[in-house]
Amino acid sequence: MAPFEPMRILVVDDEESIRRLAKKEFSDPHRKVWTAGSAHEAFELVRRQQVDVIVLDIRLPDGDGLELLEQFRETLPDVEVIIITGHGNIDSAVEAMKSGAYDYITKPFTLDRLELVIEKAFQRVRLQRENRLLRHTQSYQPSPRFIGSSAAIQHIQYLIGKVAPTDVPVLITGESGAGKDVVARAIHGLSRRQENPLIIKNCGTLQKELIRSELFGYCKGAFTGATESQEGLLTLAHQGTLFLDEIGELPLEVQASLLRVLENQTFRRVGDKQERQVDVRFLFATNRNLAEEVKASRFHEALYHRINVFQLDLPPLRQRKEDIPLLVEYFLGLLSAGKPPCRISKNVMHLLMEYSWPGNVRELRNVMERGMILSENGIITAQGLPRELAEQNRYKGTVLHGERPLLSLYELEKQHIQRVLEHTSGNRSQASDTLGISRKTLYRKLKEYGLE
Ligand SMILES: Nc1ncnc2c1ncn2[C@@H]1O[C@H](COP(=O)(O)OP(=O)(O)O)[C@@H](O)[C@H]1O
Ligand SMILES: [Mg+2]
Repeated sequence: MAPFEPMRILVVDDEESIRRLAKKEFSDPHRKVWTAGSAHEAFELVRRQQVDVIVLDIRLPDGDGLELLEQFRETLPDVEVIIITGHGNIDSAVEAMKSGAYDYITKPFTLDRLELVIEKAFQRVRLQRENRLLRHTQSYQPSPRFIGSSAAIQHIQYLIGKVAPTDVPVLITGESGAGKDVVARAIHGLSRRQENPLIIKNCGTLQKELIRSELFGYCKGAFTGATESQEGLLTLAHQGTLFLDEIGELPLEVQASLLRVLENQTFRRVGDKQERQVDVRFLFATNRNLAEEVKASRFHEALYHRINVFQLDLPPLRQRKEDIPLLVEYFLGLLSAGKPPCRISKNVMHLLMEYSWPGNVRELRNVMERGMILSENGIITAQGLPRELAEQNRYKGTVLHGERPLLSLYELEKQHIQRVLEHTSGNRSQASDTLGISRKTLYRKLKEYGLE
């Protein structure tokens, strides 16, 4: 939906006086009126012109209004149709409602009455388009909090507070899972656009051939298959924020058009000669080094400078481990869904702090989620952790061979003794029997391995 565009009404009636009157009375800066005297004319018109509301006389010289209604419902999903019926023709009114008309109005009628029905129909059109927009918008998800006590995160929180109220584009960089989405939502949530849409699109998932039309929209007939005009994400984000994730994946030729939007807030739909205005705040994210991409001629240099006005770089979690305890507490609370949150054992916290977190905060969240499922009596122990975490000390400095690490003999012997002891529930004479060594040797080895 484009709030800056007037409502577009089509009146289809064979009575010339009604067409003339409707055009005269309803046309104003917020409403555009087209008229058609026949079914054929009406069809020609909607082929060329996108409309929002159609007022349709059920009796037409060259066809049945009901049939036309059905065709409209099929081909113009975003349009509401109001039926005009003759006096006492309630049957066809009922038929029309069954076929998906928004409402009907009986001749003779006053223009005021018709105007009211048109306005209501248009509200419904807007609502439907907004719903479609909502499917693109992520704002219905409760906005996640941006947590962290490290100096790096505190500084980023400070910068977010400064930049959010402006319209300056922000480039958010950092490894996958480091929190780029969270930052983008925080910026939008603290901006003057917070009530308006936040549209999030990952440029890496856009289909190459369709990127331009998804972003900018297209005109009917712009290419095969474009049977109807369609607004792009840019228009959906009007007065709100457009967050383009993985901006490094955008093809070069589309980058040039994007630069124009950033520079003068104008764009063109695919197949349209006319320039349009939009009011959009841009956020970008990437886990690529864009400066390198520019050097390699894979990224538009001018666009890079334009989007790199304000950069927020999220350090990987391994460089800010002091955030881990706070994040753990946050996720345990968040994921407990009202029940008393799980706790973690000291040993587990130690393992979490040791680990290198290649998947960053996302991985930590997943580990907590898994741990909660495997928790016993509300406590997450090392058994509830994935192997790479639980066994990281054991495997430190070892080489992997397929799934299994190549252990030193020392390490292998230690683990084997541990396993046997687990099996005998700690009974040492049984264990020494199984191992084929004397109890005295076993005691010595336990001492040596620190297993007592
Ligand atoms: N600082 C943070 N505070 C709270 N949650 C975070 C933080 N950073 C990341 N997360 C959570 O970790 C997950 C991954 O974050 P996300 O922003 O999607 O990462 P990215 O976009 O950088 O790949 C999400 O569930 C997000 O809510
Ligand atoms: Mg992301």
